[in-house]
Amino acid sequence: MAEFETVLLDVNAGVATLTINQPKALNALSSAVLADISAAVDVVAADKSARVLVIKGAGDKAFVAGANIKEMSELSPAEGEAFSKAGNDTFSKIANLDIPSIAAVNGFALGGGSELALAADIRIGSTTARLGQPEVGLGIIPGFGGTQRLSRIVGIAKAKELIYTARIVKADEALNMGLLNQVVEVEELEAAVEKMVNAIMKQAPNSVIASKQAIDQGIELPLADALALEAKLFGEQFAHPNQKIGMTAFIEKSAPTFE
Ligand code: HXC
Repeated sequence: MAEFETVLLDVNAGVATLTINQPKALNALSSAVLADISAAVDVVAADKSARVLVIKGAGDKAFVAGANIKEMSELSPAEGEAFSKAGNDTFSKIANLDIPSIAAVNGFALGGGSELALAADIRIGSTTARLGQPEVGLGIIPGFGGTQRLSRIVGIAKAKELIYTARIVKADEALNMGLLNQVVEVEELEAAVEKMVNAIMKQAPNSVIASKQAIDQGIELPLADALALEAKLFGEQFAHPNQKIGMTAFIEKSAPTFE
């Protein structure tokens, strides 16, 4: 498995786990960390055995406490734009992976850390999760996709409130607004993520991938075009053996074993 300085990547039994591994700095995202995430996601994309990506932060205090403020403090406008673009390119790579991704949010997920979690398909938090976009308090704005992905996930009005006020929300409020899919006790986080991973891995892999495509590509389209895309992807499922495997198993009252 590839080695990285600031992140850990493990691919085991179909599950790729990416750990941001800078706990002393609360896993803050420097350019070096972003470059490592990007390279690690390339490895995941190329690994045909990987069926789900799990993203987490090392240590018990933070998922990721944001982009590295010390590094950002000296940037020129052009360098700021390039930094934002590098983060956006990296997080879009995660969002655009064929396979689903789950962020395991333990502790702080602030600024770029919240934006990293937002790039995942699903977010499971511990009761200690604290999420927010505090950028306007630093004289900047969210720049790793937060203005767009937060708005799409919690709605424009809620995203504006959170971004304009820099308010950090606790796990239960994040759950209520759909920012977290599920909240569990800290010691149950790993098991909850594993349970979700297993639930996904039991399904037909090609159908999970096609569902992600239909949702993510469809949401960018006018409804009629999105429904046409859904119909096309639906039809394509019938060209895969898993459709017969799944339906035959139902009819025979057995459990399907998908390819
Ligand atoms: C650099 C950071 C950091 C960050 C924490 N650290 N967050 N370093 N960038 N975003 C470092 C601290 O400097 C400190 O290092 C160590 O991690 C531990 O943090 P403390 O502050 O001592 O911990 P604590 O008092 O428990 O406070 C936790 C915290 C606080 C509330 C999460 O660290 C915090 O407010 N961090 C910044 C959160 C933030 O504003 N994030 C958004 C950044 S803007 P030392 O060396 O002193 O021990 C952003 C923009 C994204 O993300 C888009 C860019 C284009």
